[in-house]
Amino acid sequence: GTIRLADYRPYPFEVTQVALLFRLAPGATRVRARLDLVPRQPGAPLRLDGEELRLISAAIDGEALGGNDYLLTETGLTIHAAALPEAPFTLETEVEIAPEANTALEGLYMSKGMYCTQCEAEGFRKITFYPDRPDVMAPFQVRIEGDLPVLLSNGNPVAQGPGWAEWHDPWPKPAYLFALVAGDLVAHPGSFTTASGREVTLNIWVRPGDEDRCGFAMEALKRSMRWDETAYGREYDLDIFNIVAVDDFNMGAMENKGLNIFNSKWVLASPETATDSDFERIEAIIAHEYFHNWTGNRITCRDWFQLCLKEGLTVFRDQSFTAEMRLGPVKRIEDVILLRARQFREDQGPLAHPPRPDHYKEINNFYTVTVYEKGAEIVGMLKRLVGDAGYRAALDLYFDRHDGQACTIEDWLKVFEDASGRDLAQFKHWYVEAGTPRLRVSEDWAEERLTLTFEQSTPPSPGQMEKAPRHIPIAVGLLSPNGDEVVPTTVLEMTEARQSFCFEGLATRPVASILRDFSAPVILERAQNGAERAFLLAHDTDPFNRWEAGNALARACLMEMAEGAGPDGAYLDALGPVLADAALDPAFRALCLRLPSEDELAQALHAAGKIPDPDAIHAARAALMRAIAQRHEAALSEIYAAMAVPGPYQPDAEPAGRRALRLAALALLSKLDGGARARALFAEAQNMTESFGALSALIALGAAEAETAAFRTRWQGDRLVMDKWFMAQLAYCPPGLAAGLARDLAEDPLFDWKNPNRFRALMGGLSANHAGFHDRSGAGYQFYADWLIRLDPVNPQTAARMSTAFETWRRFDPGRQALVRDELDRIAATTGLSRDLSEMVQRLRG
Ligand code: ARG
Ligand code: ZN
Repeated sequence: GTIRLADYRPYPFEVTQVALLFRLAPGATRVRARLDLVPRQPGAPLRLDGEELRLISAAIDGEALGGNDYLLTETGLTIHAAALPEAPFTLETEVEIAPEANTALEGLYMSKGMYCTQCEAEGFRKITFYPDRPDVMAPFQVRIEGDLPVLLSNGNPVAQGPGWAEWHDPWPKPAYLFALVAGDLVAHPGSFTTASGREVTLNIWVRPGDEDRCGFAMEALKRSMRWDETAYGREYDLDIFNIVAVDDFNMGAMENKGLNIFNSKWVLASPETATDSDFERIEAIIAHEYFHNWTGNRITCRDWFQLCLKEGLTVFRDQSFTAEMRLGPVKRIEDVILLRARQFREDQGPLAHPPRPDHYKEINNFYTVTVYEKGAEIVGMLKRLVGDAGYRAALDLYFDRHDGQACTIEDWLKVFEDASGRDLAQFKHWYVEAGTPRLRVSEDWAEERLTLTFEQSTPPSPGQMEKAPRHIPIAVGLLSPNGDEVVPTTVLEMTEARQSFCFEGLATRPVASILRDFSAPVILERAQNGAERAFLLAHDTDPFNRWEAGNALARACLMEMAEGAGPDGAYLDALGPVLADAALDPAFRALCLRLPSEDELAQALHAAGKIPDPDAIHAARAALMRAIAQRHEAALSEIYAAMAVPGPYQPDAEPAGRRALRLAALALLSKLDGGARARALFAEAQNMTESFGALSALIALGAAEAETAAFRTRWQGDRLVMDKWFMAQLAYCPPGLAAGLARDLAEDPLFDWKNPNRFRALMGGLSANHAGFHDRSGAGYQFYADWLIRLDPVNPQTAARMSTAFETWRRFDPGRQALVRDELDRIAATTGLSRDLSEMVQRLRG
């Protein structure tokens, strides 16, 4: 059934204490739970969630329940009111579960001989009978018995002996933050002293052999802990902080209290096996999970509709952290690239939903770029509206007022209203309405006055036909014709459907730089010619808009090329000064050389009322790369030579930026040299960044046979590197080869499809090959659907998540649409389809 926000009711009992005992065994683990309960609504039955549990016994205040006292179903246990005391009481249950049979990787499961858990959002109900909802918060005591050397749970260690350990988490928490890990693990140790002098033991737990790949993550953790103290005044609150790396994991990582569990991909790193972008992501994800300790754990969500309360805020916090650790403007541009490529795409398709949805069937389907990344943009807009000091005051109030509570978006907005005195009623639309606003701007110049007139409109989305005007912060600056800034960045607040803003007393007509720093997640529609864009690319003082001007030039050029035009000479000219400007950061120049993706171009063509042709888009992009290389061959060769980084590899932003620029030059030059430089680099590379960059360039040329084989021979024993091998061959190969190659790779003995990383590498690689996935034969669609159907009974969460590859299908021609529709129908008609995948397919069919 459908779960609705409007149906929220408080839980009729308070849980004051939880004690759990685990007797671990792969096929038959016993879980005993003792819950101390206080009735809050006389006469209410006690309803506990529970799935796939074998009930052994249940007792209240020591008395076994009789068959008439309760009702046991597939989804839970209800104890009738008549069987319940009116005063506080204790419920004891014992259940049996089978972690080794758990392939869905939700609840308690096994990964390479080690026990681990994933409880968010609703996995705890697969461990024991419990009110599995985030507004029920309680302190947990856990005893683990099992014949394994390392036995971990949340909170502080209390006592341990051979084959057992006890943990106590004093901070009341919802069940989704529960975690247990048991295995033959080794620790990479560390320690941290908090601002107030508390000594915290740190550990990163990995399987033996991986301990030398934890150093970077450990240092990132310490930087995160320090940053949360200085930027938000938040200290860590336990004696120990453990991180565990597991190979089989549905998502990136999980913020369980005091015991974060990570996909090993986002912990383990060495120069030989991880790329610069892996290092950056690891730092960001370590920070993200750590930051959840305050934004998520100490203050959690009242219900799952409020997910973006913790996720949007925590993403905003990790983005701010990375911006300070590395190059702020470059980080901002990267975040906006991701937002537009993935969130704008979601917002414009059949899966569009508000950052705070009001109904769902399966909450796991709502861990989306809209909840996370758009959620973060909304926090960024709030900060822009109230200013840095206002933001800090609002956050201080939030922690003060709501520590220990399970909150809503309304609570969150209220602290901003109370701290700043502003009315945010209109601003709230950002949370409760789907869709990306279109913001059209026109200019008028008269009598030393520049008038900017904005018009906003948000297209309909599923279930929401009418959209109210949004409160939009629009950061604007004005430049004189010689490039001086005559009006520094000013935030205009748009609240009407149509609104004008004037700048007076200007001697000459300035050039407006609009939506600086991407101050709102909107699509800016501005009639602007190439010369103005080239001017902003050369002179804008706002780094985001400087990059954006070049990006808009490239996008316009590619859209015309996809419809048969040749490369735009003005765009090629405008790139020259950027390439040559040694004062510009290499990482920034690398971004300027990065063309919009094929998927983004399809999105832009669709938005312009055209039917995108994937083959034409692919050809246009390849042709523009060749044209850039031809026009700027000398400058690119010079960059390629000058950006080589001498000495041992360091993952820091500065050398990483140089490598990024060098590899961007390589990808272009390889269109001219037949891959000679890339082949040489592949042969001599001492780190994965360069090795993988060279391999990718060769794959794109269709000339990587020897290198692909050599890479496999060298790395076949390394699961994380082999994921890259599967992904890159499909994502970058000539599109005509993609579907056939996917079939071949699925036959490779190393294609362990039950491992989510490996599955995502192969299927994600195929769907990232835009023209390959959308091949007019339908071979890409069919292969992809076959595998979703096969994975669904094993791991519904990952199958459902991967189905988003189909979300753009309505952009394309009737032939492709019919092919996708057939595949969606075929999936929908599969018997026993999971709730996860059936909800997705139903929404995708629209
Ligand atoms: N809270 C985690 C994070 O953002 C994500 C876990 C989501 N897991 C899931 N099965 N839906 O860091
Ligand atoms: Zn998160």
